[in-house]
Amino acid sequence: MSSFKQQATKPDISQQVIWLTGASSGIGEALVKPLAEQCKTLIISARNGEKLQQVAHDTGCHNITCAPVDITNRDQLQRVANDIEQHYGRLDTLIANAGTCEYVDVGQFDAALFERVINTNLMGLVNSVEAALPLLRKSQRGYLLGMSSSVAYLPLTRAQAYGSSKAATNHFLEAMKIDLAPEQIDVSVICPGFVKTPLTDQNDFPMPMRISASEAATEIIQGLKQRTWEIHFPRRFTRILKLIALLPAPLRMRITQSMSRQ
Ligand SMILES: NC(=O)c1ccc[n+]([C@@H]2O[C@H](COP(=O)([O-])OP(=O)(O)OC[C@H]3O[C@@H](n4cnc5c(N)ncnc54)[C@H](OP(=O)(O)O)[C@@H]3O)[C@@H](O)[C@H]2O)c1
Repeated sequence: MSSFKQQATKPDISQQVIWLTGASSGIGEALVKPLAEQCKTLIISARNGEKLQQVAHDTGCHNITCAPVDITNRDQLQRVANDIEQHYGRLDTLIANAGTCEYVDVGQFDAALFERVINTNLMGLVNSVEAALPLLRKSQRGYLLGMSSSVAYLPLTRAQAYGSSKAATNHFLEAMKIDLAPEQIDVSVICPGFVKTPLTDQNDFPMPMRISASEAATEIIQGLKQRTWEIHFPRRFTRILKLIALLPAPLRMRITQSMSRQ
């Protein structure tokens, strides 16, 4: 049997030590309470330590540890990993959710914007995996989830930087899944459509089928329990994008160019 398949028996999350990044806001914040209620210990990270404390306090749960960190800083991540090892001896699940979005104006092309977005979304994920992987290896069935986006399916207007960072995220996670399968470490990629969060509140364009952060959290937890390779939602939206991505390039680009003129 191919080792590419996720294992048939899904580990019970009630005994798990879970590390969630990007927990101070948006989708990450919405994940905190339901995760804390269901798992053994939840470690939550983001740069804003005060906001993390507030989020943890608001849940009323006592199994949450706040670990402020900047995911672009490998030393800070390593310090959090050392603390997790000292206190819990292992990590069962990393949910590498932290990320950012900036749109490109090709009239004012700016490589520094790419550097910021790719540093956070791709390198921040890679840095988080570097810190977490030795601890996931100490779990009986380690699990790595990385936050991507449905923008990874096809190039869209003004998404040169964000889309590149997320397409690279999908590539990275799929290759990690192949190479970690022999160690029984599962890997999943999360590809949401539009979710209402402070990140999308800045968008000045229509966001079809946008869902709430708590709906997104429900989808993620459902996928996490099943260890589904690709957790994508809302399905109606992601299926349309997947379908457009399958079209021959000239037709596909006629459709995506029509989006850019709106
Ligand atoms: N909202 C959507 O429609 C949507 C769709 C697809 C994918 N996503 C992805 O979902 C993830 C969460 O997005 P969101 O919409 O919930 O955005 P959000 O509300 O802006 O939350 C982003 C989170 O990431 C943290 N973060 C950002 N840079 C960080 C850094 N350098 N180090 C540590 N933490 C950092 C932020 O906390 P601090 O500022 O305190 O560090 C915050 O907790 C992102 O990866 C995003 O690309 C979102």
